[in-house]
Amino acid sequence: MSEELKDKIAVVTGAAQGLGLGITRRLAEEGADVIIADLQPEKAESEAANLREEGLSVSASVLDVGDSQSVNTFFDDLFDSRGRIDILVNSAGVGQTVTHTVDLPDEEWERVIHITLTGTFYCCRAAGRIMEKQASGCIVNLASINGQSPAALVAAYNVAKAGVISLTQTLALELAACGVRVNAISPGPVYTEFNRRNMAQRCESLNISEEEMIERVRAAIPLGRWGEPADIANGVAFLCNPSTSWLTGEVLRVSGGLAGVSATPAKR
Ligand SMILES: NC(=O)c1ccc[n+]([C@@H]2O[C@H](COP(=O)([O-])OP(=O)(O)OC[C@H]3O[C@@H](n4cnc5c(N)ncnc54)[C@H](O)[C@@H]3O)[C@@H](O)[C@H]2O)c1
Repeated sequence: MSEELKDKIAVVTGAAQGLGLGITRRLAEEGADVIIADLQPEKAESEAANLREEGLSVSASVLDVGDSQSVNTFFDDLFDSRGRIDILVNSAGVGQTVTHTVDLPDEEWERVIHITLTGTFYCCRAAGRIMEKQASGCIVNLASINGQSPAALVAAYNVAKAGVISLTQTLALELAACGVRVNAISPGPVYTEFNRRNMAQRCESLNISEEEMIERVRAAIPLGRWGEPADIANGVAFLCNPSTSWLTGEVLRVSGGLAGVSATPAKR
């Protein structure tokens, strides 16, 4: 593995598990000093300890990305102690309970938009201010193919991810003058905890088994397999690599060629 990110200070939100954890490993393997920022303290600390045992430089901090004040304090304290912040990857996000939009409760809409979109904004804003001052930095936001091609029954999630893409492109324009790059990754399906919950609900509504659902999704992916966290981590590492220094405002789809899920629910 190359040492392209040697000694870079990187924060990955939502990295106690799933895609964020895979991204943490990959950035640390490239030499970065990575801080996992997640709501789950024990899990974040034990995963960081596992990676340290492999010789990687990873630590863990508790952070709720939905708490504006805590986010500001977290990034300001990190800057004070480390002297700079080179990379921010926003992976924290929550899925939505699978529901017809006409039945979607206010609280569920607000929960998903608040964590998945507003939380990403809070982190981009706090880190972006620091990166603007230091005149360098790289932000990668986890969007979704749903943000580009909405899937039925998860309107709040689709809207949150479309918002993450727009936020990415807006910030890319605003921070370009000071050399800060802002890009997004749109992952296709990866069988994490997040997807397991979503699949279970879709199986119930379609009255099919989990195995059948997994196979249906697999068959719809042009490259013929589900994604792995490492596939997404490779995309993030590419966007953080100094060789992509002329790349900003991009949305990189990493989905085995899947552009979106177009299935429509039957008439109720
Ligand atoms: N897995 C997929 O198929 C897939 C596809 C497209 C996009 N994504 C996106 O990728 C990102 C990561 O997904 P995942 O599959 O790893 O999910 P996951 O549910 O496995 O992990 C999400 C992590 O985020 C943390 N988190 C949740 N709320 C938080 C908060 N308020 N503050 C800090 N941390 C918080 C959780 O503790 C957890 O560790 C999400 O933004 C998701 O929308 C995932």
